[in-house]
Amino acid sequence: MNRFRGKVAIVTGAGAGIGRATALRLASEGAQVAAFDISRERAEETVKTIEENGGRAAPFVADVSEKVSVEASVDAVVTQLGLPFCLVNCAGILKISPALTMTVEEFDAVIGVNLRGVFLMSTAVARHMVAAAQPGRIVNVSSIHAAISLRDSAGYAASKGGIEALTFTLAADWAEYGITVNAVRPGATWSALTTPMYTPEVLSALEKRIPLGAVAQPEQVAAAIAYLASEEASYSTGAVLAVDGGYTVNGDLPGKEYSPR
Ligand SMILES: NC(=O)c1ccc[n+]([C@@H]2O[C@H](COP(=O)([O-])OP(=O)(O)OC[C@H]3O[C@@H](n4cnc5c(N)ncnc54)[C@H](O)[C@@H]3O)[C@@H](O)[C@H]2O)c1
Repeated sequence: MNRFRGKVAIVTGAGAGIGRATALRLASEGAQVAAFDISRERAEETVKTIEENGGRAAPFVADVSEKVSVEASVDAVVTQLGLPFCLVNCAGILKISPALTMTVEEFDAVIGVNLRGVFLMSTAVARHMVAAAQPGRIVNVSSIHAAISLRDSAGYAASKGGIEALTFTLAADWAEYGITVNAVRPGATWSALTTPMYTPEVLSALEKRIPLGAVAQPEQVAAAIAYLASEEASYSTGAVLAVDGGYTVNGDLPGKEYSPR
């Protein structure tokens, strides 16, 4: 497939995990990828891998929670690579801390990256699309914890619920400009964020709880993101696509277990 040939794509959090897999996937389909990450080293590493595979990409060091950093980086993409066709908001952080003792600084830090970051990046990119009268795609990365609890992660869960609400409203706001705004809602996925949490016991419990019987590979989430970022998803806006192996629709009582795959 060459769904992104001749198109510029911005991916935030492109230095690791789902963002890195998405950057590689879009580049493999012809996109010129602007790899945004707060870590220069990780952004450059992703770009190196894309180039080694024959693709085109450039690193951009940006903190998505900071307005000045976001606007300068998005402006630089437009100047250096051209107007982006799609933006994937994947950068995210997780802090595990009981709500009763979580500091407001901890809460704000998670909201700042996960939710304000999506608002800042989306508006910065959409302003360019609207000014150029060009349509585009925005894909936000939510989480099953927008809909179901995750113990001791009030800021994270609130940020993901906020991302889905923001997705619905921006989809309606920007439809007249031909900009679609959708979200994917991943479940448990192998990444730097989660691997330390997946002890053998946790992994075994997850595999029995997930109807498809396995934790996702980042490439499986990237495939869903690539669809929503492509021309093919032309009639979807304000949609949330679950990529969770059936986790959130599993209503069985404990004792009904699935087989690991
Ligand atoms: N891994 C999972 O199980 C899972 C499940 C559901 C949703 N998600 C979501 O997917 C997204 C990616 O998660 P992941 O597991 O791949 O994480 P990861 O930790 O592997 O990668 C996150 C990347 O984002 C970058 N980043 C962090 N803060 C940033 C900032 N302020 N500005 C720019 N870049 C920043 C990091 O440097 C890193 O490269 C997150 O939004 C996360 O909430 C992950």
